[in-house]
Amino acid sequence: MRIPFLLLTILYLSLQCNASPVGGSEKVTNLRFYLHNTHSGNDPSSVLVAQNTNATAHARGLVPFSSVYVFDDVLTEGPSSTSKVVGNAQGMYVETGKDGYTILETTDCEMTDGPFKGSSFVLFSRNQFSNPSSRELPVIGGRGAFRMAQGYGLLRTVCIDCLDSVNPSKGDIIEYNVTLYLR
Ligand SMILES: *[C@@H]1O[C@H](CO)[C@@H](O)[C@H](O)[C@H]1NC(C)=O
Ligand SMILES: *[C@@H]1O[C@H](CO)[C@@H](O)[C@H](O)[C@H]1NC(C)=O
Repeated sequence: MRIPFLLLTILYLSLQCNASPVGGSEKVTNLRFYLHNTHSGNDPSSVLVAQNTNATAHARGLVPFSSVYVFDDVLTEGPSSTSKVVGNAQGMYVETGKDGYTILETTDCEMTDGPFKGSSFVLFSRNQFSNPSSRELPVIGGRGAFRMAQGYGLLRTVCIDCLDSVNPSKGDIIEYNVTLYLR
């Protein structure tokens, strides 16, 4: 299928910085991208590295309490896994909710394309992933163009355990809509 040029332009522009001065020299920048967390197949982007001995036996919810995962996830411009890669997110998440639906997430998002190439910002917070939309993670800092960044990311689940022709590795796709206050 041929993607119309206008659509590509809109997708590209949605990644550009929307800078406007807010008091002093602070700038507000909005970045929107899609994170692909795959946990099966030959080359998963997210792996389980530790768990309490009884974690599975006593599991409630989706992810057993105490599970520690390390990930290196691709970030794309659009929601499909074949969409253009714009960065990667490296970090860890730990199931800290005894309900099995809340992780404590630390995520360093580095842009590998566009005006912020080589710079990264860090999100750190609990993430109640059973809520498909309006999850919020604080931005606690960054490197390069994102040095001293503050802000927040709004997360929306596109799909969990999705497996189809555009997403050949079973995994989760999450929209990250990040607002950064840069100095
Ligand atoms: C696992 O469960 C058993 C039985 O309830 C208990 O005796 C043991 O201490 C638990 N181990 C851990 C590491 O929590
Ligand atoms: C992204 O977040 C900004 C700031 O919170 C909001 O104004 C905007 O509507 C959001 N965009 C989408 C597509 O959800």
